[in-house]
Amino acid sequence: MSDVMMRLAGLTKTYLKGKPGEVQVLRGVDLDLRAGEAVALVAPSGAGKSTLLHIAGLLDTPDTGSVEIAGQNVTGKGDRTRTALRRQDVGFVYQFHHLLPEFTALENITLPQLANGVSEKAAQERAMSLLDHVGVAARADHRPAALSGGEQQRVAFCRALANKPRVLLADEPTGNLDPETSDQVFDALMALVRDEGLSALIATHNMQLAARMDRTLRLDGGALRPVE
Ligand SMILES: Nc1ncnc2c1ncn2[C@@H]1O[C@H](COP(=O)(O)OP(=O)(O)OP(=O)(O)O)[C@@H](O)[C@H]1O
Ligand SMILES: [Mg+2]
Repeated sequence: MSDVMMRLAGLTKTYLKGKPGEVQVLRGVDLDLRAGEAVALVAPSGAGKSTLLHIAGLLDTPDTGSVEIAGQNVTGKGDRTRTALRRQDVGFVYQFHHLLPEFTALENITLPQLANGVSEKAAQERAMSLLDHVGVAARADHRPAALSGGEQQRVAFCRALANKPRVLLADEPTGNLDPETSDQVFDALMALVRDEGLSALIATHNMQLAARMDRTLRLDGGALRPVE
């Protein structure tokens, strides 16, 4: 059995193909993300980190190349299969929390589970245990607007992991926070990743945060290269 949790092979992506302003963002991205491995993705602004993460997270499609998650090749699969796989196997975290404003922290984490057929009791238990893990259990009944930026992001991590995905993709998850908060919130994210046994690909501009992961890859000229 292979221990590769997510395999990206030969991904290419060009925006505005054939038009003025055409941008070749990805020119052949290959990555084997192993089970339980956390990989940092670094690159200057505009190099294509978000593009790559969206394709890996099945939120966008590449021009060519393939995405394989947990041994299942997603290339060419219909929308329904992609959506199901995304819901089940992939957690996504953005720079901004994107929590639903009219629901409490707890509800934001139970709702995706209910949509997946989990019972209300089990969903709440899972949500509380996740919130506890990242140190915001006492804020469970607050709406996002009543939470600090760091707390909002911690809740967003819990929501991304609510349905026990195997892969976590994060796009500058602490990029909106001040350096000290960013450090603490990042620690909480890494603790979750490790304890849940996730494979993670995390984009960051912060080399110190990158150094806390298992290895670092730089997106350079549309391809991934190891950073020593
Ligand atoms: N929908 C789109 N249409 C046209 N060009 C796009 C589109 N989305 C992204 N681009 C371009 O593709 C390039 C890569 O963008 P992307 O957002 O992936 O970079 P990034 O590495 O995430 O940058 P940042 O660090 O600023 O978030 C940029 O030049 C961007 O302008
Ligand atoms: Mg980006």
